[in-house]
Amino acid sequence: MAAGGRLAALDEIPDGQARGYAISTPTGVASIFVVRRGNWVHAYENSCPHVGTPLDWIPDDFLDRDQRHVVCATHGAIFRVEDGVCLAGPCQGDQLEPWPVIIREGGIWDASATLPVTDEALPTRRNDGDPDR
Ligand code: FES
Repeated sequence: MAAGGRLAALDEIPDGQARGYAISTPTGVASIFVVRRGNWVHAYENSCPHVGTPLDWIPDDFLDRDQRHVVCATHGAIFRVEDGVCLAGPCQGDQLEPWPVIIREGGIWDASATLPVTDEALPTRRNDGDPDR
């Protein structure tokens, strides 16, 4: 899927579960995953802050047995779904890298292409087409 595209319908992810996606970006393919909590979703890069391996050995298997936390399949680190903070394991205190998504028209959309990458990009984007700035 290209950056800025629709990842899935919200209902395609059962409540409480997670799904992985690959997104083509200008710098390569990004592997991400989305966890659904009711009408909310939380999305992160599929890369453990410990050594950078994907979190799932089995596709879409990102959560522990009771679906409360994200778990890294490599060394068992446990992450809070809401903010990606590692609660236990070799990278305790580190954090999953969030990925921007939005929910619109019943779908989950990648928002990485619509957000500035750096602070320096903000003035350039704000000045586009505005000769008074
Ligand atoms: S790579 Fe995830 S805990 Fe080690």
